[in-house]
Amino acid sequence: MKIIYEEKGKKIIDNGDTITKIIIETRNPKTGSYRIAHIDDNWFKCYQEIYERYRFTPRLYSFKSDTFVMEKIKGVPIGTLHKNEYKRDYYKIISKLFKILSSLYEYNINNSDRWFWHCDTVSKNFMWDGNNLTLIDPEAWCWIDLDLLTKLDLPDKILSSAYSFENLKHTQKWTF
Ligand SMILES: Nc1ncnc2c1ncn2[C@@H]1O[C@H](COP(=O)(O)OP(=O)(O)O)[C@@H](O)[C@H]1O
Ligand SMILES: [Mg+2]
Repeated sequence: MKIIYEEKGKKIIDNGDTITKIIIETRNPKTGSYRIAHIDDNWFKCYQEIYERYRFTPRLYSFKSDTFVMEKIKGVPIGTLHKNEYKRDYYKIISKLFKILSSLYEYNINNSDRWFWHCDTVSKNFMWDGNNLTLIDPEAWCWIDLDLLTKLDLPDKILSSAYSFENLKHTQKWTF
């Protein structure tokens, strides 16, 4: 067992085959809401559905109060890839990224009230092992209330792939 990451009330422990993520519950200073208040049985069911159907997330073994136990993913966050590796794998990474984004739409398209969405699609949450692109950070999966978004006029920012590319912008500096 080894702590591989510790930050702002979060701890990641490498158990060899699995990863444990412990989240010390605090309020998000911007929204005032608790960070893992949205995680319940239904959340777990949706996460499992996404995993079973598409396999681009780590398998989640358990979630109890503040602790996830999940599959250990090989590779590194794409933002930390060496320039040459990134150039070599760029088209593979981009095509898998599109696949992930289209899967998100495919999963949600028939739900008219709220969408189950990964709300932190920054480059450090995409792990690349040379073949597989995996979207980590499970508690970032949350529900987006479509009604609320329409009222706030935000859907373009949150629901479009442009948002994800905005988050990934700094990795493009090597290729363009
Ligand atoms: N399932 C996993 N497999 C391998 N490494 C992981 C896994 N989950 C997290 N990590 C490592 O821990 C780091 C932080 O994890 P993350 O869940 O994104 O934390 P945060 O909520 O602070 O963004 C990642 O960049 C990665 O290096
Ligand atoms: Mg993260």
